[in-house]
Amino acid sequence: MLPSELASSPSRRTSTLAHLDLVSEIGRLKKEKNAVILAHYYQNEEIQELADFIGDSLELARVAQKSQADLILFAGVHFMAEGAKILNPSRKVLMPDLRAGCSLSDSCPPLAFERFRAKYPDHFVVSYINCSAAIKAQSDVICTSSNAVKIVNRIPKDRGIIFAPDRNLGAYVAEQTGRDMILWQGTCIVHETFSERKLIDLKVRHPDAEIIAHPECEATLLAKADFIGSTSALLKYAMESAKKTFIVATEEGILHQMRKKAPGKEFIPAPPNANCACNECPFMKLNTLEKVYLALRDETPEIQIPEDLRQKALLPLERMLEWSL
Ligand code: 13P
Ligand code: SF4
Repeated sequence: MLPSELASSPSRRTSTLAHLDLVSEIGRLKKEKNAVILAHYYQNEEIQELADFIGDSLELARVAQKSQADLILFAGVHFMAEGAKILNPSRKVLMPDLRAGCSLSDSCPPLAFERFRAKYPDHFVVSYINCSAAIKAQSDVICTSSNAVKIVNRIPKDRGIIFAPDRNLGAYVAEQTGRDMILWQGTCIVHETFSERKLIDLKVRHPDAEIIAHPECEATLLAKADFIGSTSALLKYAMESAKKTFIVATEEGILHQMRKKAPGKEFIPAPPNANCACNECPFMKLNTLEKVYLALRDETPEIQIPEDLRQKALLPLERMLEWSL
């Protein structure tokens, strides 16, 4: 690292913040700069607590599109903040840490995807929102985990479909819709981590518990689930179900809202294969309170997208929003 980079590196910048009350400083900066903080459910608790809006990818995209704030601080991962900029380009979109990527998005490089698509020139291209602007620009429509079935059902029955980049969500949607789909073979490192054997053990110890799972999990795990849905859908289900105990197969950040919104109930994270914290998304967890403060104070790092790419990525995103009304 060059000396100039070292001076502005996140660890160097955060080491001088110990004396600050970060929560009130963030509140002050938000007011002063007319900023809004949008956070995904997988953010750590302290960030969820100070967010103006918490949601799943679809809800966050909708809120970002309509935001009138001068600054949108997106506490999530890169494709989410990029999506906000695509939908609302006149706002300044900031991220606490630009390195917060996504294994699904990384699994689908634009050039390789172009070659893949070329093999099926007549196919309709559906891309999960967990992908880069360059992949969105090559797609006919975008979907999220909460609207994927609805979106695929809108595609004329005689059209072939390419689904990218998540093979697990793709397989789930193919099963739900009865459509044959060519799947890009990407996966999420977090949702692939859950152990079917340990899940069965856990269910034996908690026979009354319901298993609720995100559709990014593998098919063998989804087959054991009582309910499958996006993060918001899982939260809503847990709040409304008559059951008292839930085994939750998704990133553990969602448990914070579940425990807050359904205080009398028990939420048990589904166990990962190894004895690790692999059910935490390492990308989401790069965001910290210190980095949120610095991003608001210095108005950096900022999401920038070349205008021609933004225009191309906007069309399939807008189509998704229209089709999922
Ligand atoms: P949601 O669509 O449920 O927000 O999921 C986003 C995500 O990244 C899941 O890993
Ligand atoms: Fe990507 Fe998985 Fe993290 Fe979601 S949990 S942001 S899909 S790596």
